[in-house]
Amino acid sequence: MPDELVLLTGATGLVGFAVLQKLIEQNYRVRLAIRTPSKKQEIYDALDRAHLSSNLDFVIVPDMQVTSAFDQAVKGVRYVVHVASPLAVESDDLETSIIRPAVDVTLSMLHSALKEETLRKIVITSSIVAVMPSTPGSFDVDTVVPDPQGPWSNPFAAYIASKQFAYNATRKFIADFKPSFNVINVMPSFVIGPNGFATSRKHYLAGSNEVALAPLVGTVMPNNMTGCGCHVDDVATVHVAALESSVTGNRNFGVDVSVNGVEWNKGKDIIRLKAPEIANAFSMDGSVTSFSVGFDASRTQTQLGMKFKSFDEMIVDVARAYVAIGT
Ligand SMILES: NC(=O)c1ccc[n+]([C@@H]2O[C@H](COP(=O)([O-])OP(=O)(O)OC[C@H]3O[C@@H](n4cnc5c(N)ncnc54)[C@H](OP(=O)(O)O)[C@@H]3O)[C@@H](O)[C@H]2O)c1
Ligand SMILES: *[C@@H]1O[C@H](CO)[C@@H](O)[C@H](O)[C@H]1NC(C)=O
Ligand SMILES: *[C@@H]1O[C@H](CO)[C@@H](O)[C@H](O)[C@H]1NC(C)=O
Repeated sequence: MPDELVLLTGATGLVGFAVLQKLIEQNYRVRLAIRTPSKKQEIYDALDRAHLSSNLDFVIVPDMQVTSAFDQAVKGVRYVVHVASPLAVESDDLETSIIRPAVDVTLSMLHSALKEETLRKIVITSSIVAVMPSTPGSFDVDTVVPDPQGPWSNPFAAYIASKQFAYNATRKFIADFKPSFNVINVMPSFVIGPNGFATSRKHYLAGSNEVALAPLVGTVMPNNMTGCGCHVDDVATVHVAALESSVTGNRNFGVDVSVNGVEWNKGKDIIRLKAPEIANAFSMDGSVTSFSVGFDASRTQTQLGMKFKSFDEMIVDVARAYVAIGT
């Protein structure tokens, strides 16, 4: 309900900043847990660019992995939206840089939440990869996959494992502690669309938007990528809609435009056809081969009374924002 206090993590990223915008638009009061004090001003700057203003409350949590990390941050909070987690970043120690943070930060949040009686609900940004079987076949948010086995051959494999372990740890926490608050996992596929926190084209290409922009900007991705995606606006909408009191119990919401998958290389034709005024800004000589994974997230739309934005809208919106940012 509007006016209630929400604790948000991850606001300095693509998904978290979109959630922050949506929370402000819907008149929630927001407290942000951030790691680095200087990012407070960057968040206010990004809100200015989006023509939004709000009296935000900040808590600096330099290391979110430690036990009790959020004990202060959850004080007086009604809801938590926990978005923060590492993406598939290059590292010579994937366990320490990706897997441990994903699991530890989720658990430190859940344990701090247990100590706060005012808390009703925690929404966690999980992922399609948390429920995606290793062999092809159709699946949905309630599919259970066995824990993955290391060693991890690349950052993406470690990222998949991190989201699977974090989801498993969340389920185990619920079974062990039977919290009085509800836990909602949001499971998006590749999140595509304007990044309100980004200040450069390079920043755009550092996250999930790269897979959509690569064919346009001339990047040839060597690996076959999963052909699934969702609009960042829909991802934010689902996180915030999940806070409503009509959404009860512990449950999961998928966000993905089509069970039939998407083809990233089609982005070139979509821009030529739907946004011809920016087509010249792109070399159009990149390539991302993709395959459909069979994720059925359609149920989210009926459950939350919304309609997902189309693949064309994702591509046009991200390409326009990328061009507009200039350098
Ligand atoms: N993008 C996608 O396609 C996609 C799809 C499904 C699920 N998700 C999930 O959505 C969430 C956000 O993703 P994103 O695309 O917004 O990523 P992003 O733009 O890279 O943002 C990541 C956010 O997480 C924080 N973070 C990263 N590592 C952290 C750590 N070790 N401890 C504490 N905070 C940390 C970052 O904070 P700093 O500014 O302090 O680094 C930043 O706020 C993640 O949980 C991700 O798994 C993303
Ligand atoms: C989840 O983790 C536990 C260990 O904590 C393990 O025993 C269990 O098999 C895992 N669940 C799945 C579905 O892999
Ligand atoms: C990509 O992977 C899919 C599924 O494994 C396969 O059917 C397809 O042939 C692969 N395409 C390329 C170009 O490797």
